[in-house]
This record gives sequence, C-alpha cells and structure tokens, in this order.
Amino acid sequence: MREITKLLQGNKAWAEEIVAREPNFFKRLSKQQTPEYLWIGCADSRVPATNLVNLDPGEMFVHRNVANVVIHTDLNCLSALQYAVDVLRVGHIIVCGHYGCGGVTAALDNLKLGLIDNWLRHIQDVMEKHKTTLAAISEKEARMDRLCELNVIEQVINVCQTTVVQGAWERGHDLTVHGLIYGLSDGRLRELDIRVSSQNEVIPAWENAISSLTSKAETLREKYA
Ligand code: CO
Repeated sequence: MREITKLLQGNKAWAEEIVAREPNFFKRLSKQQTPEYLWIGCADSRVPATNLVNLDPGEMFVHRNVANVVIHTDLNCLSALQYAVDVLRVGHIIVCGHYGCGGVTAALDNLKLGLIDNWLRHIQDVMEKHKTTLAAISEKEARMDRLCELNVIEQVINVCQTTVVQGAWERGHDLTVHGLIYGLSDGRLRELDIRVSSQNEVIPAWENAISSLTSKAETLREKYA
C-alpha cells in the first residue's frame, strides 16, 4: 500500500509541475495526440523512452517489449505500429536497443528462464545469422555489445518488412525507420548506421549497416565512451 501511495504522490507532483509551466497542458493533450515518432524499445526499467529523449507527453508513441523485438505475427507490436503509421501518421519509427540488455544476455548464454525462452529464440536467430561475426569477438562483453547492435539492425529491417510500413511507402507516406542504441552506463543514445525511407533502400541499408558495424573492432559503446 505504501508503495502505491508513493506513486500517487509522485504523480501529483509531476502533474502540478507541468501545469505550473503550462496551465492548459493536459486539457490540450486530452483533445488529441499528434506524435511525430514511434519508439519501439526494450521494456527494461532503465530505458525510459520519453524521458531519455527529453520529450513531453504527446510527442512520442511508445511500444516496448523484452529486447525490442519486432515479429511479424506479434499482433500487439503490429497494432501499435499500424495505429502509429496509419492513424497518427508518424514520420519516424525508432527501434532502440540498449547495451547490457538482459534479454540479449539470456539469449547469448542460452539461459533457461521459462516461457520467455520462446520470445528470446528470435534473438538466437539473430545470433545464428551473425555467428561468424560474433565468434570472432573473444571478449564476452564486446560480443554481447555487438549482439545488442546487430539485434537493433535486424529489428529495423523487420519493421521495414511489415505490411504496415510497406503499405505506407507504397502510398507515398513520408516515413523513415531508424536504429538507435542506448548506453545504460552513460545515459547516451548512439545512432547505428541505418536509416530507411523506402522499399528500395531496405536491402542496401541492411548490407551497409552490417558492414559498417562489423568492419570496426570497437563497438559504438566504446567509441563514444
Ligand atoms: Co533490454
């Protein structure tokens, strides 16, 4: 009970602070949302989507799951994607992974955690696809970092290959898909070398992103540390 009281008190302080800054903030937002971005990120409590990019409520539509995975049969993710693209008309979709992701670690270590092993099997597919690259990295943490980066790139491609995004591009909707990765230890986002704005760019963008990433021994985390 005490824990919930803490949340209610925190909410009151938060709402009051916003109203002090802009008295009509919530009234304005209650009428409509017009976010420019869809964020697909990890459910990890240390990666608070809207906060870490310093946006206000109403500015970013958010879908989070364990290890920021995009699967073509996941109606939850696809519904969020379709609503954001077709109804809210977002211009940018961001897939954001993070270093030290528990889901990616569990997949890499082949941990047996229960039901979630089935979900993480998709990360193991990414591992399998890039096994030569990963096997060449001897240090465990660096291998883990690289898998987190590769997972973002593969999930960006999965977003691009959904019926939702393909249909939007066919209709001439101005829509770009981006890949970012977040550092838990410094609070900073890094942009992976992938931005896709049309169907024709999907395969070249994937090839370019993978070669740009794997040609460097250091990960983006190390580069910007
Ligand atoms: Co995570």
